[in-house]
Amino acid sequence: MSNEQYKFFLCEEDLPKQWYNIRADMPMPTPPVLNPQTKEPITPEFLNVLFPMSLIEQEMSTERFIDIPKEVREIYKLWRPTPLIRARRLEKALDTPAHIYYKNEGASISGSHKCNTAVAQAYYNMIDGTKSLTTETGAGQWGSALAISCNFFDMDLEVYMVSASYYAKPYRKVIMQTYGADIYPSPSDHTDYGQKFKAEHPSSPGSLGIAISEAVEVAVKSNGQKKYSLGSVLNHVLMHQSVIGQECIKQMEMADEYPDVVIGCVGGGSNFGGVAFPFLHMNLTQGRKTRLVAVEPTATPTLTKGLYAFDYGDTAMLAPILKMFTLGHDFIPAPIHAGGLRYHGMAPQICMLYDAGYIEAVAVPQPATFAAGIQFAQAEGIVPAPESAHAIRTAIDEALDAKIKGEKRVILFNLSGHGLLDLAAYDAYHQGEVVDDTLEITPDEIRANLPKVYV
Ligand SMILES: Cc1ncc(COP(=O)(O)O)c(C=O)c1O
Repeated sequence: MSNEQYKFFLCEEDLPKQWYNIRADMPMPTPPVLNPQTKEPITPEFLNVLFPMSLIEQEMSTERFIDIPKEVREIYKLWRPTPLIRARRLEKALDTPAHIYYKNEGASISGSHKCNTAVAQAYYNMIDGTKSLTTETGAGQWGSALAISCNFFDMDLEVYMVSASYYAKPYRKVIMQTYGADIYPSPSDHTDYGQKFKAEHPSSPGSLGIAISEAVEVAVKSNGQKKYSLGSVLNHVLMHQSVIGQECIKQMEMADEYPDVVIGCVGGGSNFGGVAFPFLHMNLTQGRKTRLVAVEPTATPTLTKGLYAFDYGDTAMLAPILKMFTLGHDFIPAPIHAGGLRYHGMAPQICMLYDAGYIEAVAVPQPATFAAGIQFAQAEGIVPAPESAHAIRTAIDEALDAKIKGEKRVILFNLSGHGLLDLAAYDAYHQGEVVDDTLEITPDEIRANLPKVYV
């Protein structure tokens, strides 16, 4: 037997004790978040309609490290630390001198990285007295993660699931129901906005922007009875995900290597921020030069084709206005199988860093991501979530580029979730039904529908 090591495991004591807050190291000032009604900088009181004060404080915090509460760490221990794996069989299949590592966040209790923030958000809501939460979900990974977390802290949960995914991934609904949540396909008949949208667009596949509007509306109209929870985009969500990158740094040390490039797929930006920001901290403070690459679908090319502007976080214009790369809040993405990447905007922190050249972005088409996902599954044995297959596509492209250049490049990507409940998507690919939905859009088309804000 060879003594080549494949898996790098940390002990439970190695689980990070603090989250890393990139805001403390941001090389540029943070743009304001605006109230969707007044278009003035938002106040904590306004945000408190949606979020508990403890999370609002985290959202605005400039502290570099924030303690992870013991109760949250105890639940993290159910699946964390997650393994870092050297993809030796994929390296061989590609015949590349590159070393490829992946962090398996699909090993979490609900199958993706989303639990890292779901548990924290449910905990802080519980501490602040929330009894019931509302949320949206794209492919169902976020909804599943929040459903199990609400179950742990004895809270009710109402989930608005993008209808394209609701019907394509019926077993996600069953998982959420098993954890005790109520699920509605969005646009739904359950909210004023859902009813209005459905009347105007009866066959809409839905979008994350619409589902967010519905979940926000329910919280806003609940007279304080319900709070809203968002699975990505916001500062505190990216901060909770920093456990991923912090663990990777220790595990890469165990492997006696350091990544030249770190890769993650981006929907709202949380798993990418989670894996990349601790390495960016090393770039900024220790002179490291790791490239950080965000991968998006060509059907929703927010970073690569969007406008950097102030826009609403949701379609109904109820959610706060953020400065971000956007395709426009009323943009309805093609119903690609990577439902978690169908968002018109992007985390403001990722946008600031991309705009200033600290991180890179690429867009990859849907058929090529499935080809990469299948190549990974055949080499490594894990069927990846279609979202994660975007990161795999770029990791393989990096490894092939290293081969052409004869470089021993060290590549790390985040496997944000497994795809065992996405088999209808793989079936569609096997049947030759997965199409290239590359979006053509001009800056003027996006600009036409942006809010008129003056700051
Ligand atoms: C498996 C998986 N990866 C990635 C994403 C994209 O989200 P984010 O960019 O916040 O990591 C999702 C979103 O639902 C997801 O389910």
